[in-house]
Amino acid sequence: MGVVNYEKEENLGIITINRPQALNALSTEVLYELRTILQQIKEDSRVKVVIITGMGDKAFVAGADIAEMVAKTVDEGYRYSRLGQEIFSMIESLPQPVIAVVNGYALGGGCELAMACDLRIASEKARFGQPEINLGIIPGYGGTQRLPRLIGKTKAMELLLTADMIGAAEAERLGLVNTVVPADKLMDTAKAMANKIAAKGQIAIRATKAAVNKGLQADIDTACAYEAGLFGVCFASEDRKEGMAAFMEKRPAKFQDR
Ligand code: CAA
Repeated sequence: MGVVNYEKEENLGIITINRPQALNALSTEVLYELRTILQQIKEDSRVKVVIITGMGDKAFVAGADIAEMVAKTVDEGYRYSRLGQEIFSMIESLPQPVIAVVNGYALGGGCELAMACDLRIASEKARFGQPEINLGIIPGYGGTQRLPRLIGKTKAMELLLTADMIGAAEAERLGLVNTVVPADKLMDTAKAMANKIAAKGQIAIRATKAAVNKGLQADIDTACAYEAGLFGVCFASEDRKEGMAAFMEKRPAKFQDR
C-alpha cells in the first residue's frame, strides 16, 4: 500500500489518501500517486463513479503538506500550487462523477480537494476551513476560486480571511456539502448515492458532468451552446431510444451505456 490506495468495487473506483499519521496531508508524493490513479480511471470505462476519502477516522485531508512547504523557494511554491491545481482540474474534467467522502478534517488543500469533486458527503465529525492565512499564504489549489463559486462571495471571503473552521452542519447550510450523516453511515450513504448514479445511462451522466463543469467556466451563451451540443450527442445514443421507449411503455429503462 502506498500513500494513496485505489480499489475497485464493481462499478465504483475508491481512492483513499493514506497518510493518517500526517492527517492525510497532500505531499508531492501523494499528488503524483493521485495523478497516476486518475489517469488510470479516466481510461477505465468499467468505473462509473469515483469516491475519494481519507484513511482513518480523524481527517479527510488536513491540507497541503506544511512540513514539505517550509523549505520551498518562490519558484517551488508556485510549481507546488500549479501541480495541485492541475490534478484537481483532472478530477473536474474526469468523465466519471466524483464523490468526496469527508470523514474528518477537510482543511486547506483538503477542502480544496473536496470542492474539486462533483458531490460531497460529510460525516457529522467533518470540519471544513481554509486556514492558509494563518501560515502567511493563500489557498493554492483553487480554493480562492472554487469556494466563492460554490457558496457565494460573502461567506467565502469570511472563511478565507478569518481562517475559521466550520462544522458539517454549517457546511451543509452553506451548500458546501450535499448531505451530512453519522460517521458509521458515511461510506454506505456514499456508495448508495454512487450506485444510484452508476445505474443510469453513463452517456447522459458524463454529458451532465461536462455540461455543468465546463459550462460554469464560460459565459451563459457559450455554455448553453455547449449544453445543446451535448444534448444533441445524447440523441445519437441507444440509451436515449431506450430511455424514451421505456417511458412510453411504462417500464424501467435498461441502459447499455451506448
Ligand atoms: N501538513 C503536514 N503535517 C500535518 C498537517 C499538514 N497540513 N496537518 C497535520 N499534520 C500532522 C501534524 O504535524 C502532526 O504530526 P506529528 O504527530 O508528527 O507532530 C499530525 O499530523 C497530527 O496533527 P496534530 O497533532 O496537529 O493534530 P491535532 O488534533 O492537534 O490538530 C488540526 C488537528 C487542527 C487539523 C491540525 O493538525 C492543523 O491545524 N493542521 C494544519 C491545517 C492547515 O493549516 N492546513 C492548510 C495547509 S496549507 C494548504 O493547504 C495550502 C494549499 O491550499 C495548497
